[in-house]
Amino acid sequence: MRLLMMLQMKLQIHMFVARMCFLACQSRDFPVPRLVIICVDMPVATRPHTRNIVVLISGAGSNMLALAHAAQVEQWQRTLGACVACVISNRPDAAGLQDAAVMGLATRVVDHKQFSSRDAFDEALQAAIDAYQPALVVLAGFMRILTPAFTAHYRGRLLNIHPSLLPSFTGLHTHQRAIDAGCKVSGATVHWVTAELDHGDIVAQAVVPVLPGDTAAALGARVLGQEHLLYPKAVRSLLQKLTTEPTPH
Ligand code: GRF
Repeated sequence: MRLLMMLQMKLQIHMFVARMCFLACQSRDFPVPRLVIICVDMPVATRPHTRNIVVLISGAGSNMLALAHAAQVEQWQRTLGACVACVISNRPDAAGLQDAAVMGLATRVVDHKQFSSRDAFDEALQAAIDAYQPALVVLAGFMRILTPAFTAHYRGRLLNIHPSLLPSFTGLHTHQRAIDAGCKVSGATVHWVTAELDHGDIVAQAVVPVLPGDTAAALGARVLGQEHLLYPKAVRSLLQKLTTEPTPH
């Protein structure tokens, strides 16, 4: 009974915060989010037997929003026993953080500039992630090279989306490189993360045409549109596989 009362209280607080965020969004002074969806789910940390997803971002976070949106609309909590437990950014000014908060998601910042070494940052990031005992850690525009110790710790749980058809065009400036190479198609790849950058096993891919006269921006926008469909689909499919296995905790 006490637990039920606590859950009810937390739900009310959660709804209040979501409502305040919504009202703030109506104000002209508030930096307008690109997507406003109010989450009235219970805070994740209170749910037992949930497969937590932790999403890491560095910037706009549109892939994170696509995932969180799919999780809500498709009711992953009910159907897959899973939800986005926390969005973590290495940049305090990442635009996606505000949008995540508006959706009622927990957010955290682990600012890489506060750490003297890559190892120290990755250790702090790992501690922040592990607080959620995640089934999946999803990189969504997370612009940091990760240490081998970090990738080994999350082996089989760490996903990334890359804006090219891997194994072509690992690294940066993928759209311009695809155009310069005369590619007729390009796309995006969801892959497992290993110590070698953009080289883990491929989970799923989406293909788009490269059109005559394409700029990197135009091709990038076309690819990003597909990323927003591909990433939730790939994560959903992995969660469906996990639901046939025993639940954690
Ligand atoms: C996406 O193109 C993704 O493939 C790449 O970084 C971009 C992130 O965009 N890794 P967003 O932050 O999800 O909007």
